[in-house]
Amino acid sequence: MWWNEYDSFEDESSHAPSPGSIFKKVYPFIRPYRTIFIGSFFLSLTAVFLVLLQPRILMFLVDMAIPSGVYKQVRFGAFLYLGTMVLSAIVGFFSSWLLQLAGVRAISDIKTKLFNHLLTLGLPYLEKFPVGKLVSRIESDSQRLISLTSTMMQRVLMAGGMLAGAMVMLLLVDYRLFLIVAAILPVVIVGTYFLFKYLRPYFREERARYATISGIVAEFLKSVSILQIFNRKNWAMKRLEDENNSYRFFAAKIAYVEYGIFRGLAFMEVLVTIAVLLLGSGWIKAGTMTIGTLILFSQYIAQIYWPIIMLSEQLGEIQRAGGAADRIFSTLAMEPVLKETDTPQPFPENIETIEFRNVSYGYIPEKPVLKNISFKVRSGESVAIVGPTGGGKTTILGLLCRFRDPDSGQILINGTDIRSFELHTLRKNFGLVLQDLYLFPATVKENLMAFREDVPDEQMENAIRISSIDTVLFNRGLSLKDKLSEGGKDLSYGQRQLLAVARALTVNPSVLMLDEATSSVDPGTEQKIQHAINTLIKGRTSFIVAHRLSTIRHSNMIMFIRDGEILEQGTHDALMISQGFYHDLIMRQREGSE
Ligand SMILES: Nc1ncnc2c1ncn2[C@@H]1O[C@H](COP(=O)(O)OP(=O)(O)OP(=O)(O)O)[C@@H](O)[C@H]1O
Ligand SMILES: [Mg+2]
Repeated sequence: MWWNEYDSFEDESSHAPSPGSIFKKVYPFIRPYRTIFIGSFFLSLTAVFLVLLQPRILMFLVDMAIPSGVYKQVRFGAFLYLGTMVLSAIVGFFSSWLLQLAGVRAISDIKTKLFNHLLTLGLPYLEKFPVGKLVSRIESDSQRLISLTSTMMQRVLMAGGMLAGAMVMLLLVDYRLFLIVAAILPVVIVGTYFLFKYLRPYFREERARYATISGIVAEFLKSVSILQIFNRKNWAMKRLEDENNSYRFFAAKIAYVEYGIFRGLAFMEVLVTIAVLLLGSGWIKAGTMTIGTLILFSQYIAQIYWPIIMLSEQLGEIQRAGGAADRIFSTLAMEPVLKETDTPQPFPENIETIEFRNVSYGYIPEKPVLKNISFKVRSGESVAIVGPTGGGKTTILGLLCRFRDPDSGQILINGTDIRSFELHTLRKNFGLVLQDLYLFPATVKENLMAFREDVPDEQMENAIRISSIDTVLFNRGLSLKDKLSEGGKDLSYGQRQLLAVARALTVNPSVLMLDEATSSVDPGTEQKIQHAINTLIKGRTSFIVAHRLSTIRHSNMIMFIRDGEILEQGTHDALMISQGFYHDLIMRQREGSE
């Protein structure tokens, strides 16, 4: 079922790259801020060093200052202890602050780069992924990547520094204690490593179940009206409840296990301390060790112990960062399907002809949707593309806008392949009104202008008048400054159609492409839309996927397309006389409207 396919947490991919290789790829993004990163790491190590001094100061207090009875010495030791504490807190704060500062910048660099890259990759790529996944790639993956690599580096550094520093201190103070720790450490390290390795699949499962629940919620929210009308509300609630229950039991189980493990590890730490205290008491009795040394040891053991556990835990995070890195860098490595030419031809001042020459295309290569399409349109002509659903009409417009390139054949403007022009200039000359209308969650004006600043206001006002959206929208309390909701869902479908046509009029492109929506509107609005469309196509080169007979009639040429082939081509009158597919289509439409 689809709700099991919501796997936005495919983190720990089986081929997760090694930390080294992740770092190599992330480094270019860190590089500009490397001095800040290095500064932060340096401060972290300083903080570690200050903390490491503390047991040594305590030892001095217990073994020297207090027994000596000199109050000044005790005070000195106490202040020193306090000083290291305060200083390490301050240094630690600045270290984290710097790390955040650099991290946030590096993240936004990655996001920008990814976003730009996704846009250049173009439609054929974007269509393959659910929007949610792409958003998560830009947002959480890059976040995760940088924060993990930077905080991870800091933690590894701190834990390593702590471990090495404490060992050196122990060695300097008493080699016997050093040997004990050196004997126990490997056991703890290997033990925790395997524990977390054992637990990781469970953590992963927990996240996957969590993602499933979010997926269900998102899907159900989108389809509330469908669920209501088919009386499936209880069914939906039941589904969610089932998933929730299974998640809850699982999460609780993990929480118990986790708690148990951490208690167990803490218990082991106490055992080691007790064992050393017992051994140490013998050494103290024999006079080969001071009480201060024993206190120093028990403090160090705590300081060594937790970094190790933290590191083992971090290993899972490294793997997760590996998953994120994998996805980000494989996306960045992807070549755009549409290649921009290196030596662009200047775009012609006037578009004289547009020609399809033996164009074939399939979304899936082995399933061609357009088969050997050829036609030629002259400047100022309007072409109506008609035919049954799924025939390939929208696909033709998509190819002309160069959202995709044909598998074979050529599309030519004034005899030059459109691939030799800059994509940007090519598209600038085209206006497109899509079948599935899209309006931005922005103001009416911004929608009309399509966010372009080079459109004069008069042009927009003209468009507003011709499309009569002033009577349909503005007389109903909507103004140019009002913000539309997502996709323009606060407008009726007819209103959206009108606005979309007005947008094309405003932008005033040299070539117009219009994918007429089939949904019918009331006769009054219909007339307005029709009027606007007729104004739009008058004297303008246009391609219109048409369903309205009145639009079709007004065009200079009609192409009847079925299953990716042009079956008929000609004017309305000529095609009616030949009594072929087009004739049948029109007759059926007339019957339907009677
Ligand atoms: N993004 C896509 N990925 C894969 N196949 C697609 C895609 N878009 C369209 N198709 C397939 O290509 C064929 C032609 O689709 P197209 O949208 O061009 O039809 P159409 O003539 O515009 O139909 P309609 O009148 O319903 O809008 C259809 O069989 C459709 O299944
Ligand atoms: Mg279509």
